[in-house]
Amino acid sequence: MAADRDRRRWDLRHRDGVAEPSAPFGWSHLPTDLTDRTGLDVAAGTGGVSLWAAARGMRMTAIDISGVGLRALADAATELDLSERITTVVRDLDHGLGTTDSFDLVVCRNFREPTLYPALRAAIAPGGWLSITVLRSGRFGADGAELLRAFADVGAVVDTATDDRAHHALFHRPA
Ligand SMILES: C[S@@+](CC[C@H](N)C(=O)[O-])C[C@H]1O[C@@H](n2cnc3c(N)ncnc32)[C@H](O)[C@@H]1O
Repeated sequence: MAADRDRRRWDLRHRDGVAEPSAPFGWSHLPTDLTDRTGLDVAAGTGGVSLWAAARGMRMTAIDISGVGLRALADAATELDLSERITTVVRDLDHGLGTTDSFDLVVCRNFREPTLYPALRAAIAPGGWLSITVLRSGRFGADGAELLRAFADVGAVVDTATDDRAHHALFHRPA
């Protein structure tokens, strides 16, 4: 099955992956005090974004198909004394987001699945942010306008950028 193949492929790629804090696009626009805000790290991989956010006091949920990637995240969280702030969920996102909760910060970085866009929109709490990054080329590549088309109605487009590899955007939903 395609899902098993994806899982095996990503498990292999994450086997030697480094789990270290990594800021999402647009982080400098977020409030300085993020204590006890909630966050969703979609297709988290080894969870760099979750580690970055939890280190700032956020409570994060990290979803990925790869148990190996999420294990690396959980180990790093233990080492950094952040485990109480990070929940990992092994899930195939081809079957949807799997939560109807809403979050102060939703991050989806380097994972493009347009069928998830409505669920990502719905997961942003009033007053919350969406930080999203899609690769420019390759099998999962997209043009930057896709993000604006899909999410402009969330509210304000706070920041956008394009670099060699990817398109990035940060959206803010009014409270
Ligand atoms: C390029 S990595 C990005 C990881 C992370 N967001 C980051 O920026 O470091 C893509 C991630 O998507 C995950 N992924 C791929 N297909 C998936 C699926 N169907 N359901 C859930 N996660 C999936 C992979 O396991 C991998 O961790």
